[in-house]
Amino acid sequence: MSRIVVLTGAGISAESGLGTFRDAGGVWTQVRLEDVATPEAFARDPAMVRAFYDARRDAARRAAPNAAHRALAALEAAGRDLLIITQNVDDLHERAGSRNLLHLHGELAKALCAGCGARWAWGEGPMTDDSACPECGEPGGVRPDVVWFGETPYGLDAAYAALGACETFVSIGTSGAVYPAGGFVREARAAGARTLELNLEPSEVSRLFHETRLGPASDLVPAWAAEILGV
Ligand code: OAD
Repeated sequence: MSRIVVLTGAGISAESGLGTFRDAGGVWTQVRLEDVATPEAFARDPAMVRAFYDARRDAARRAAPNAAHRALAALEAAGRDLLIITQNVDDLHERAGSRNLLHLHGELAKALCAGCGARWAWGEGPMTDDSACPECGEPGGVRPDVVWFGETPYGLDAAYAALGACETFVSIGTSGAVYPAGGFVREARAAGARTLELNLEPSEVSRLFHETRLGPASDLVPAWAAEILGV
């Protein structure tokens, strides 16, 4: 059975109401990433960084998976050998039912202790300077468990192993602007995989794919999933 690796980005969650980063009106057109998405920003102004991610966590909680998330979960439920590598920090893939999932850039629903490295599920409410780490007990270092610029993404060994063994690689709703994920298509091609891009508009790496289909993820992903299932 075909081994499929799917890379997802903010575009798959756009129709769930969560903003993308680089489109017109996107997150990085409103906030400087240097102010909220680097370890230096957290050291300089932890309250501002926590508030930015508290708001994003609240937005993600209010959002619901869309037809694209559900179509990927349905492929896995139908027994397809499919790994989703997501750059997204929301949990819409899980809530759609996907289980074989790797969060390259971390998760809004988890906290990380900058002091001891402990990671744990974050419930309701904001992170503050008084929030204490459940492992070391120290306050002050509690931060969202998201990967910032200058930090190493999670799960890279597993991601490269899957890319090196896949037969089909599909990129959905990502600009390809951020590495290493932007380079995954090259890895998949080197492994001999067929590569397909599903995106609203051509990405920075479109030319590297065998095929690009343009349109909203909620249309393109269910249509592609139906092809795979032969329905
Ligand atoms: P971007 O905002 O860079 O790109 C989103 C892509 O989704 C664009 O190419 C859009 O054309 C496409 N898109 C928008 N709406 C869509 C829809 N309804 N259906 C299909 N495609 C759609 O977001 P990412 O590529 O995810 O990292 O950004 C990668 C990383 O950059 C993020 O994980 C984040 C960000 O900085 C960190 O914060 C570390």
